[in-house]
Amino acid sequence: MDDALARAGYRDVAPEEGGGAARGWWDANAEEYLAEHGDFLGPDDFVWCPEGLREQDAHLLGDVRGATVLEVGAGAAQCSRWLAAAGARAVATDVSGGMLAAGAAYDARRGSSTPMVQADARHLPFADTSFDVAFTAFGALPFVPDAGRVHAEVARVLRPGGRWVFAVTHPVRWAFPDDPGTGGLTAARSYFDRRPYVEEAADGRVLYAEYHRTLGDHVRELTGAGFVLDDLVEPPWPAGHERVWGGWGPVRGALLPGTAVFVTRRAG
Ligand SMILES: C[S@@+](CC[C@H](N)C(=O)[O-])C[C@H]1O[C@@H](n2cnc3c(N)ncnc32)[C@H](O)[C@@H]1O
Repeated sequence: MDDALARAGYRDVAPEEGGGAARGWWDANAEEYLAEHGDFLGPDDFVWCPEGLREQDAHLLGDVRGATVLEVGAGAAQCSRWLAAAGARAVATDVSGGMLAAGAAYDARRGSSTPMVQADARHLPFADTSFDVAFTAFGALPFVPDAGRVHAEVARVLRPGGRWVFAVTHPVRWAFPDDPGTGGLTAARSYFDRRPYVEEAADGRVLYAEYHRTLGDHVRELTGAGFVLDDLVEPPWPAGHERVWGGWGPVRGALLPGTAVFVTRRAG
């Protein structure tokens, strides 16, 4: 099978095909992704977003000492490693064995041992109310058509009152070309167009799918799963921060938000 990219664009795809593409894509691209971004993320740092917001400064998860913490879409588990050093009992989960293997390689090099479980965030293999806190930095949610399933699963495994904090691409960005330069400053598509961005092989197989939700969509999905929204953090682009990550960079960062971090808690 030829997995070379043949076409890319915005189009509807069958939910199981779009949501099922992430595992293979992240397995195939784990090495390249970490070669490009691994230094910026650090093997045991907790960076929320390309703006460089760190949990050690933002404290979005609250006091994690002694807390059981679930990371979904953890990638190479950098954030969970930082949390363990901060005194939490963190478990990193991800659908991609390739990303978790990269995490195991980080552990081997550092002499650490991070609990990691391969799991789709829509089917978490944990008992009800087994975590105090859950979070993800750009994991899982952008890659599934049914984010409500992720929220429902997280609600199930969180104790009442437990925080669920997640960072995603700021929804406003969806209206602009994914260009970090001035070409990315002119709105070119409708913010209200929910069709996913899809990459496909020559035979039409979906290799990659990324889903857009408006701010209202996020709020409805969250509240529908029983969460209360406490804050919506829109990290500004820091002065002097020159690093470009895909469509993120200082040119657009000066004018447009790039990341939205939803700080929520399970009601009850
Ligand atoms: C951009 S990375 C985020 C991880 C880490 N914070 C980072 O910045 O490298 C996205 C991660 O989401 C994972 N992912 C995609 N779909 C998922 C799903 N349905 N369930 C769990 N993880 C998923 C991918 O395998 C990938 O490791």
